[in-house]
Amino acid sequence: MKGIEAVGIYQEEIIESIPSTIIVLDRGLVILYANRNYYIKSGKKEKEVVGQRLDRVFSSVLIEKTKIDEKIRDAFNTGIPFSGEQLRYPGGFFFFYKIHPLKESDRSVRKVMLLMEDITELTRLEEEVRDSYVKLENAYAELKEEDETKSYFISTASHELRTPLTVINSYLEMFEDGLLGKLNNNQGEKLAIMRSQTDHMISLVEDMLDTSRLESRKFKVQKQIIDVGEIAKSAMDEMGRLADMKEHSMSLKMEKIPYQTMGDEQRIKQVFSNLLTNAVKYTPHKGKIEVELKQEKKRILVSISDSGIGINEAEHEKIFEKFYTVGGKSLTKESERMGLGLTIARGIVEAHGGNIWVESDGEGYGSTFYFTLPKGD
Ligand SMILES: Nc1ncnc2c1ncn2[C@@H]1O[C@H](COP(=O)(O)OP(=O)(O)OP(=O)(O)O)[C@@H](O)[C@H]1O
Ligand SMILES: [Mg+2]
Repeated sequence: MKGIEAVGIYQEEIIESIPSTIIVLDRGLVILYANRNYYIKSGKKEKEVVGQRLDRVFSSVLIEKTKIDEKIRDAFNTGIPFSGEQLRYPGGFFFFYKIHPLKESDRSVRKVMLLMEDITELTRLEEEVRDSYVKLENAYAELKEEDETKSYFISTASHELRTPLTVINSYLEMFEDGLLGKLNNNQGEKLAIMRSQTDHMISLVEDMLDTSRLESRKFKVQKQIIDVGEIAKSAMDEMGRLADMKEHSMSLKMEKIPYQTMGDEQRIKQVFSNLLTNAVKYTPHKGKIEVELKQEKKRILVSISDSGIGINEAEHEKIFEKFYTVGGKSLTKESERMGLGLTIARGIVEAHGGNIWVESDGEGYGSTFYFTLPKGD
């Protein structure tokens, strides 16, 4: 053994001070030596131990349980060490013990060493870890079940709602086109309310359908050559009225070059719309919304920043989960909070091989949403 001779003179001190128990016995199972740790652990005196037979020092229950006496005899007879086992002691203590034959210079075995380690704390920790693991597994199973119920609900509800909505929508169109007779002013006003409510309901149902398509991996993107700059402009135009209502300033920063890549125009526009709607929605009056496009070597980087309420670091990932809204549904006066917009945006961006994330210095400091689209292919 390398270096062992350098510590030879300290042997005694080392053996006495290690926090494990060492007991040396002879063939008659008489204890010849026990180190300090054993006296500390057992509370016994030296004279009650040294020179005594093992069965007078260890409890009979312990010997019977472990058959330690037989194992020691085996070690004497065969010269083979007993590599160890765990042992439960009354009072909830756990030990790990080993038996090691000590070979004389003529290779005969006249003494064996019993090594015992108190592993109570370790065992307790192990049990705690195992307990926590089981709890975690149960919680996960419950969550999964809940999630599956939710997914099933979204899928069925959105499919069921689509047909009646299509019918309502087509009747509304017939009224709007005057095909069902002329309407007076009062009727016209009511019709306008029905139109905006129906449009809202259609977009909710579409969002639910998209979410369930994303989950069932039935979500398809139809790629063709697109110009992200043009899409950004048109999405911002459509958002203009909503932004004006809150007196937000909106600006687009990009170079006069095409931002071309392969992608699904409608879907990429949806990503812009979802992010812009949020920027408008979660920014108090007279805010600033900036969209910026950058051409990078392998990707196009889009950022949409607002001077709004901001998002705490702890929420940066969660807001992309379905139905997640910061502070629950009731925190703001905004009633239109389904918590699906970002889930869908992430689904679309990832289906294009890109990434989407948020940066914000926290509540009150505004937010910047980024997404990337790979160039080429
Ligand atoms: N620009 C933003 N500034 C501050 N908080 C935001 C911003 N965008 C999103 N959030 C937070 O993230 C949550 C999730 O956004 P997401 O767009 O997925 O859902 P939503 O806006 O609540 O509803 P919808 O499904 O109609 O989009 C929001 O409820 C809001 O708490
Ligand atoms: Mg939203």
